[in-house]
Amino acid sequence: MSTADEINKRRTFAIISHPDAGKTTLTEKFLLYGGVIQSAGTVKGKASDKHAVSDWMDLEKKRGISITSSVLQFNYGGFCINILDTPGHQDFSEDTYRTLMAADNAIMVIDAAKGIEPQTRKLFKVCAMRGIPIFTFINKMDRDSRDPFELLDELETEFGIGTYPVNWPISSGRNFKGVYDRQKKTILAFNEFHQGSKRIEGVECDFSDTKDIDELIGEDLRKELGDSIELLDMASYELDMKKVNTGKLTPVFFGSALNNFGVEQFLQYFLKMTTPPLSHKTVDGETVLPTDDYFSAFVFKIQANMNKAHRDRIAFIRICSGRFERQKEYYHVQSGKEVKLSQPQQMMAQERSIINEAYAGDIIGVFDPGIFYIGDTICEEKHKVKYKGIMTFAPEHFSEIEQIDSMKRKQFEKGMDQIAQEGAIQIFKIPGAGIERVIVGVVGVLQLEVLEYRMENEYGVKFRRKDLNYTLIKKIVSSPVSPDKLDLTNTMYVQDIRGRDMLIFAGQWCIDWAKSHNKGLELDDFEDLEIME
Ligand code: G4P
Repeated sequence: MSTADEINKRRTFAIISHPDAGKTTLTEKFLLYGGVIQSAGTVKGKASDKHAVSDWMDLEKKRGISITSSVLQFNYGGFCINILDTPGHQDFSEDTYRTLMAADNAIMVIDAAKGIEPQTRKLFKVCAMRGIPIFTFINKMDRDSRDPFELLDELETEFGIGTYPVNWPISSGRNFKGVYDRQKKTILAFNEFHQGSKRIEGVECDFSDTKDIDELIGEDLRKELGDSIELLDMASYELDMKKVNTGKLTPVFFGSALNNFGVEQFLQYFLKMTTPPLSHKTVDGETVLPTDDYFSAFVFKIQANMNKAHRDRIAFIRICSGRFERQKEYYHVQSGKEVKLSQPQQMMAQERSIINEAYAGDIIGVFDPGIFYIGDTICEEKHKVKYKGIMTFAPEHFSEIEQIDSMKRKQFEKGMDQIAQEGAIQIFKIPGAGIERVIVGVVGVLQLEVLEYRMENEYGVKFRRKDLNYTLIKKIVSSPVSPDKLDLTNTMYVQDIRGRDMLIFAGQWCIDWAKSHNKGLELDDFEDLEIME
């Protein structure tokens, strides 16, 4: 198969959802279709023994959540699929956001009884910012659910996008009979007892010819379905693929992941509707096509100690163009050095396997000798490109960290540096204070716990942690006096690792106070890197 053919069969997407909407269950069903796993429950067991594919830390196991995002690859129907799993728990971090930078499409899983939930909102915002196509799977139709029209309306009004239901549910909960495929005009009947589906192929759902349909779903539901379809055909959006491709219209599917109902139908439509890997822009404004014949990639995630025995650090890279070859030397743009990307690997369910080649659209993990930072570019020396960095999000929680054992100062610095390099935390200096006392900023508070755990387990360092009540951070653009002389309230002056002056505030009112009490003080948002296109 040619490189272009390999690339064109790739589909790289992330699944996003609020916890418990059914993301893991849906992923697992996809893997079953891909023949990667043989039985359900392989990805994650029962509640008492929950473990996701990516759990690589005791802490994750203890809390029953997946802190880091994992990447899975499998083949289905002639496609090579890369799924980026994003942690969905309440307390997620920047890692989740960054993972979305490596995806070309997103699947948004929604609980039919709950509709849009807080985490769905946050994740949707990032997808919308990138303008990537979003496909919606409304899950748990086997349970009593909200009115489907109401759910669509919520998506449209809250997210400001159009919806196109590809299928339509026939009731829900105990009465759930299946879905009507609006494209094929057939009914896919739900068979609860066989935990599967029975497709009524060829029953052209001409609602005047009612015999077969009535046998299947009963007269009342047939009439109701007919009315709903008529209404949809009249009032809903057209399936405009241009709008889908720019994230302005979301195709919507109803089903039940747990019962494996509507999942294959969804997967098939999804693969048909999505495009091969997207192009990427460089800092010079050049567009790199996936099929361009040189290798290029960017680092979107760094993960330490995936394998405790080896104390390794893996950099996850998203290949943007060309073909990756294991034995070749590549060029790390930020350090200006040649690198050999050793131990290139991909995740297949629970297993990591070493690979010899990979293509644009793929995500691979490579050994990081400690030189990579999030957002770095790796390419061929004879064809240098540099991708835009990945946005750094403003931390929302801050803690003062003080090292306890002065004998372990080196380990403290090393550990904090390395963990910051992975992008899990951000370190700020307190001007005038020693290096053993720093401010740590995180997007999700769980990262503070992770930091404490990792510092102790990986670097043998304990520290004192005092959580602060600051929630906002701004960059000082210009200040009328030296920043430590500013008239402030409930505000702290810090510097980021690049030595830039910052202020952290307890709330918006502190920002207003700072501005009104210090004429000429100019502040800017913390996020300063352009988002990748
Ligand atoms: P998440 O990854 O989005 O957090 O959700 P997950 O797949 O873990 O699903 C959350 C719970 O919802 C699980 O139940 C799962 O079995 C259930 N679930 C998922 N899809 C469906 C569905 O289509 N219908 C129904 N009725 N339930 C569904 P649990 O009790 O928390 O875990 P478990 O004991 O089943 O593993």
